[in-house]
Amino acid sequence: MAALLEDFAAILRSGRLTMGPYLERFEQEFAACVGTEHAVGMHSGTAPLEVALRYWGVEGGEVVVPTNTFIASSNAALLAGGHPVLCDIDPQTLSSGLPQIEAQVGEKTRAVVAVHIAGLIAPDIEAIRSFCRARGLLLLEDAAHAHGASANGQLAGNLGDAAAFSFFPTKPLTTGEGGMLSTNDRDLADFARSFRTHGVSAKGRSLERLGNNYRLPELSAALGLRQLARLAEHTAERNRLATCYRDAFTRLGCGEVLLPEFSGRVHAYYKFPVRLPAGKRREWVVAQLREHWGIEAGSVYWPPCHLTPFYQRELGYGLGDFPVAEEVLAQVVSLPIFPGLSDEAVEMVCCGLAEILAEAKGDCRGDK
Ligand SMILES: Cc1ncc(COP(=O)(O)O)c(C=O)c1O
Repeated sequence: MAALLEDFAAILRSGRLTMGPYLERFEQEFAACVGTEHAVGMHSGTAPLEVALRYWGVEGGEVVVPTNTFIASSNAALLAGGHPVLCDIDPQTLSSGLPQIEAQVGEKTRAVVAVHIAGLIAPDIEAIRSFCRARGLLLLEDAAHAHGASANGQLAGNLGDAAAFSFFPTKPLTTGEGGMLSTNDRDLADFARSFRTHGVSAKGRSLERLGNNYRLPELSAALGLRQLARLAEHTAERNRLATCYRDAFTRLGCGEVLLPEFSGRVHAYYKFPVRLPAGKRREWVVAQLREHWGIEAGSVYWPPCHLTPFYQRELGYGLGDFPVAEEVLAQVVSLPIFPGLSDEAVEMVCCGLAEILAEAKGDCRGDK
């Protein structure tokens, strides 16, 4: 904390509050961490999604996106002038694998967005990549949940043609608000640097294209640098907490743990989703956890994109379009997981859930 405050003081003293040395270093260190040649900082995680899709010229074309994601993954296609085509999910990983993606690819498809939901890279990401290459489709990773996750030693952010990270406060790495594009494509990186500064050329003088202000301020970059230095430690701690959860679930039998562990995969554990037994409503369970145990649980995600009012009204989606997502996600609760959470807290969450599901009071809580 003291070191971060010194960074902040240095930035304020310098008077250089944006596009300065902290952003440059953050980009360099982020790219080195992920293993890509380029990283471009932006003011949100939605911005790199939109910018990559704009650069690829998806306007008038289709972009395949899982229905189980934060709406920004899909909205980015609309912002870039394209048409999002949603796809169903695998009931165990909660993400879209090749079968679900392939089912939605057609003549107009230009790109596929692979979302590493809750921090797990799809087990068939290599097959998805080969499929995209063979069809001439661009593969965009939405790595907003997946800082530190890897597949066979390759980090999320270096598995497709480009990737987008979010640094929103709840994410495994935060800058308050912010995001990063990572890519090995130099022309895309130059386009992104230009687009984030109103379309001014990378060299800085002439206006080359339409752009916007998507810049990441220096204070945010300084925070990002400090967070990045601890990413490996935080990822290890999230994985340790996940093991505690798995052990407690085996002992207490309070639902089905999702997102299996696959060999060669390191999970970022942005969330710890579990599936409730049939007949238990997720809203009721979440409310009970809050009311009786003071535990904040959430979703990944409910409703899925195709059941949001906007997508139903504007894009014609409706109930019944993606049966697996509808059935499974309605029963998924995501439990708290973050560095600083104690083992006792994990035990209390599991006890609380077990008790609520048994609809009996007292067993686990003792005399609290
Ligand atoms: C999967 C996913 N994609 C994209 C985003 C968008 O990131 P941001 O809110 O930083 O724009 C988020 C943020 O919550 C997300 O969870």
